[in-house]
Amino acid sequence: MCGITGYVGARQALPLALDQLRKLEYRGYDSAGVALLDAAGLQVVKSVGKIASLDPLLDGHGNGCLLAIAHTRWATHGRPSTDNAHPHTDCSGQIAVVHNGIIENYLALRERLEAAGHTFRSETDTEVLPHLIEEHLQAAEGAGEADPLAAALRATLREVRGSFAIAVVSAHTPDRLYVARRDSPLVIGLGAGEHFIASDIPALLAHTRDVLVLEDDDIGAVSPTSVTLHKLDGTPVQRAPLRITWDAAAAEKGGYDHYMLKEIREQPATIRDTMRGRVTPEGRVDLSGEVSLPAEKWRAFNRITLVACGTAYYAGYAARYFFERLLRLPVELEIASEFRYRDPILDEHTLVVPISQSGETADTLAAVRLARRQGATVLGIVNVVGSSIAREADQVLHTWAGPEICVASTKAYTSQLIALYLLGLHLAGVRQEGTHPLAEPLVGAMQALPALVEQALDNDRVVQEMAHNFTRSPDFFVLGRGLDYAVALEGALKLKEISYIHGEALAAGEMKHGPLALVSEGTPVICLATQDDLREKMLSNIKEVKARGATAIAVVKEDDTETARIVDYVVRVPRTLDELMPVVAVVPLQLLAYYVARDLGREIDQPRNLAKSVTVE
Ligand code: M6R
Repeated sequence: MCGITGYVGARQALPLALDQLRKLEYRGYDSAGVALLDAAGLQVVKSVGKIASLDPLLDGHGNGCLLAIAHTRWATHGRPSTDNAHPHTDCSGQIAVVHNGIIENYLALRERLEAAGHTFRSETDTEVLPHLIEEHLQAAEGAGEADPLAAALRATLREVRGSFAIAVVSAHTPDRLYVARRDSPLVIGLGAGEHFIASDIPALLAHTRDVLVLEDDDIGAVSPTSVTLHKLDGTPVQRAPLRITWDAAAAEKGGYDHYMLKEIREQPATIRDTMRGRVTPEGRVDLSGEVSLPAEKWRAFNRITLVACGTAYYAGYAARYFFERLLRLPVELEIASEFRYRDPILDEHTLVVPISQSGETADTLAAVRLARRQGATVLGIVNVVGSSIAREADQVLHTWAGPEICVASTKAYTSQLIALYLLGLHLAGVRQEGTHPLAEPLVGAMQALPALVEQALDNDRVVQEMAHNFTRSPDFFVLGRGLDYAVALEGALKLKEISYIHGEALAAGEMKHGPLALVSEGTPVICLATQDDLREKMLSNIKEVKARGATAIAVVKEDDTETARIVDYVVRVPRTLDELMPVVAVVPLQLLAYYVARDLGREIDQPRNLAKSVTVE
């Protein structure tokens, strides 16, 4: 939530900072702003709306400017407005700050600063930061600090509670910018005679592959030729850069109208990438090169807790069925935002698996910290390399889906499923002597999945035509049983997020316990019927909704003619083992949400009110 970028170096800073910012627009897009330092001093330009709304205001700015920071906002404190847009400045207009996160004690700080004569112009929590820096700067200068602004920033951040990734520029130090983080991400891109900053790695890929990932309570001073890191208490920090191997083109639209469609279509390749190097030539899943625990530790786990939010949670839903079937271990699935307030029971025999595309979701990160404190082993399923969850978990299994830009997750979901299947199979291998009877067929079938997803994508035209008929529907129901229910949850979320049509997923057997009352003539009901052992039960449920006038849309295995006969629309997906069907069955639901949203003229990649990476609780 909220994107931050910045540049300091010998090139024109403004277009570079803005170009990076456009790559972060998925993080928030209700207002935007820049602070730049040029011959005229510190200037701040901001506007309500998307980043493009800054363009006319920036005409004539930035010539010869070698240092700039920029921000795109997802409002938390204060509605979207120019005053509330970042950067925020101190009373003198000499210090500008952009921030991602929440300063929890801002009200008390604001009262104190106002009483001391500071004037505030916004409703935001962020605005206390430039005023606090202003206050501490005088003291730091008086104390003869070598870098007074860095000292003032440290003193400021020692006073605040909450989460922050911030960048600061000041007319007092025109050769450098300052950065800091706690619980919100920030990375520094290393160039030759220039440095970049960004909330997220994709914004840097066009310029550098070498990044320094800030850790909690790091404060950095970044000039064109140096990056100096300290902890909040002033201790110097040495940190090795990380080399990023993502393809820069993967973060571009590549000829598609929307990132979402591109990312849906990338799935055969991303599924392959998730599996690459993790299956031995003999067909065994082996993750020992990545997740290294002694065999006795693997065997000692008596419970698995999956914890995640949104789509990642729904991937966990499917994994729960899979793990329980394969491992015969109790598996709990937890919504991360509820997890820690429940005082969960965890111990050294619990394997906690946080699942997260961004690796920065505040609730999931909090769950990781809680689990570690309670002695559980934390094994993260994470896409973004170097992200907080990837760093803080005891072990990480990366999903290798590449950068996912559309706010609505698609390829990250299928890669999470694959990574979870791999983890389940690895666990099955290390926990039992000899090969698990299900392992061989599962691994064989997984290797065929990229080709099957390719076939599922061939439904594009069928789904596109079907979508026209549903743009006026106020509600959708999505029904499934067993693993189909896990997919239904994800399908309904996709509809909600990007088409703004209410989609409700239901375990099909629950319909008759209440929700059936909502079905009337023409209500669209998507019925997933891809689980062989549940198909007959599902047929009954389809008949029940049809009898009440529903328009039934079925997703079935290619050879299921019986279900196809009783529904209004049918989408056929290729057959694989039931355990793996979610990877294939979700594809038409992703496409349906996309085409309904497109027909409705929605902002598909950046749906209203949402942001890609949810770094606030
Ligand atoms: O980055 P994460 O996987 O931790 O994000 C979790 C959710 O915020 C995310 O999946 C969200 O639900 C997506 N917008 C779904 O499309």
